[in-house]
Amino acid sequence: MSEEIKKFKITIDGQTTEVAPGTSILEAARQIGGRSVPPAMCYYKPLENSGGRCRTCLVEVSKGSEADPRPMPKLVASCRTGVMDGMEVKNLTSDKTQEARKAVTEFLLINHPLDCPVCDQAGECHLQDLGYEHGLERTRTEFERRTFEPEDIGPYIKLHMNRCILCARCVLAANQLTEEREHGILFRGEQAEISTYLNKALDNDFIGNVIDVCPVGALTDKTARFAQRVWFTKPVNASCSCSKCSGKVVLWMKGEEVIRVTARKDQYDEIEEWICNECRFERKDLKYWSIEGPRHIDRHSVISLNHYEKPKNMINLLNNPDAKEISVKDEE
Ligand code: SF4
Ligand code: FES
Repeated sequence: MSEEIKKFKITIDGQTTEVAPGTSILEAARQIGGRSVPPAMCYYKPLENSGGRCRTCLVEVSKGSEADPRPMPKLVASCRTGVMDGMEVKNLTSDKTQEARKAVTEFLLINHPLDCPVCDQAGECHLQDLGYEHGLERTRTEFERRTFEPEDIGPYIKLHMNRCILCARCVLAANQLTEEREHGILFRGEQAEISTYLNKALDNDFIGNVIDVCPVGALTDKTARFAQRVWFTKPVNASCSCSKCSGKVVLWMKGEEVIRVTARKDQYDEIEEWICNECRFERKDLKYWSIEGPRHIDRHSVISLNHYEKPKNMINLLNNPDAKEISVKDEE
């Protein structure tokens, strides 16, 4: 008979939950949910070995465990630190954590251009959200930002290295979704950059997913660039029978026009199922898709605003569980 594994109790900002041994503090916080979940610019649950690079998820451990209640001497990266039984963590309730997050945001913005008005990721950019919540009003650095020319990497993807924060999610996605390693981080430190080796094009059936995992606007979809601001488009769940992927996508519509196609993502902006290039780049017409209904965007961002409202009498007509959660203005 299998023995029941004893769960670890953890308290984050005064809220307690129980998780399996081996769970990270970040995942435990997600289990609790709400504002106590630390932001994550490099951790991405569907990608193995992600996290530990950006330090936006730092938290204070005020009690190490029941067995050893001493606080941890430094802030820890919650995405890479395992829960101990009886651990107590402070995120929102820690001034040190909030101060550190401000400092990390400032570091991430040292080289990142403030080009949100022309960037395709504006409205769904994690760095933009972080900047609004923790950023300074103006930069304190006087030296010039490092700059690169935009680079075509393959037929569908444009790299704006100026915006890259070197989170390595795209490198992990490419390594884990494709059979051959095609791109990576070249050089080190201030010189580090994402590139394809000897300008080798990224051509693989699933490589388009690197656009979705990029937390900023460094990797953009060449078939949808500059076509619309994301907040003017309406997301709908749609599916098709595809031989390469599940065919379950989100179409970003402007009227009857399919502006772009992305994978479906959860409230932490993590992909639920990887989609193939054909669905993402080649099917920009409603004739390919069965529409399931409006897509509720859970993210705490401008992207969640001004989308579909749920008419009272439509609830049963939409065959889409997400639709039940869509805000209803006229009921408020
Ligand atoms: S291109 Fe995007 S996903 Fe890749 S390392 Fe840079 S910020 Fe991260
Ligand atoms: S999300 Fe934890 S270090 Fe980046």
